[in-house]
Amino acid sequence: MPDTTGPTGPARRSSILVTGAAGNLGREVVARLRARGARVRGLVRDQGGPRPGAEWAVGDLTDPAAMRAALAGVDAVFLIWPLLDSAPAQDMVAELGAAAPRVVYLSSTAIDDRAVRQSDPIVQVHADMEALLREAGLRPVVLRSDTLASNARGWAPQVRAGDVVSGPEIARTAVVDERDVADAAAAALLGHHDRHEPYLLTGPEVLSRADQVALLGAALGRRLRFRAVTADLARSRMLADGRPERLVEALVAASLRRPESDRVTDHVERLTGRPAGTFARWAVDHAAEFG
Ligand SMILES: NC(=O)c1ccc[n+]([C@@H]2O[C@H](COP(=O)([O-])OP(=O)(O)OC[C@H]3O[C@@H](n4cnc5c(N)ncnc54)[C@H](OP(=O)(O)O)[C@@H]3O)[C@@H](O)[C@H]2O)c1
Repeated sequence: MPDTTGPTGPARRSSILVTGAAGNLGREVVARLRARGARVRGLVRDQGGPRPGAEWAVGDLTDPAAMRAALAGVDAVFLIWPLLDSAPAQDMVAELGAAAPRVVYLSSTAIDDRAVRQSDPIVQVHADMEALLREAGLRPVVLRSDTLASNARGWAPQVRAGDVVSGPEIARTAVVDERDVADAAAAALLGHHDRHEPYLLTGPEVLSRADQVALLGAALGRRLRFRAVTADLARSRMLADGRPERLVEALVAASLRRPESDRVTDHVERLTGRPAGTFARWAVDHAAEFG
């Protein structure tokens, strides 16, 4: 049985497992499901002290026994796959197949369905995961997300230190507020969406990094600037920060090879009933985190 704390709730309510429950997106999904009365079990790797308000399963996505315990009695799963390799997902997908919950998989809008190989390793993993889930007969609801606004949290130390945010340039995309993705995920988990085409969750406008940094500055009442650095400098900085080499190479590949996208969809609104929010709104709402 999973290591659980907190209320378990009546058995007839939907019971939903949220993976990555301590992450930027996962914690928003947990909060929304709880607010809508669902019984939620969050998968975390480290219990890290009391986590009130939900039931918690402690384990790794790559550990079949932990996944079996975490999946016991759940009707639906919000699945992320934050690894750089889909091979270790085979066992997890087998456990999903045995438990047969509804699966909502969080993928990437950067997938090109016509391509034999995707632009970079991160997008390739998402394409592989979608295929694995489909081949296992799980009929997942696939939410392909654009770049999450919450990635901007990584700029906070630079914003506190000065007016320049530097980093690798990355293709312009319709950055999406993770709260909208979480609302869409909650709707997909609690509703009965039989759509077999992936949802493409984007924000309302296409932004470069420079645009995002300027909008963040506006929210803070400051003139912030973005300065692009070369891939080599980005690589050496990330390695110096202690990030794993494989992740660093994947991020560098994404910055060099991911194509620009001018796609803006209404799929957030289709799932949630209201339009996607702007990055400017996200920046205002999160300004305190950069002070
Ligand atoms: N960021 C984007 O722009 C973007 C765009 C499209 C799709 N996505 C997808 O969205 C996912 C969630 O994004 P996010 O910003 O919420 O990421 P995040 O804040 O880094 O959260 C990821 C969570 O996954 C957990 N995790 C990592 N490896 C795990 C493992 N082996 N077993 C169990 N849990 C594990 C982490 O747990 P710990 O707390 O223990 O480290 C963390 O809580 C990403 O992983 C990616 O697949 C992201």
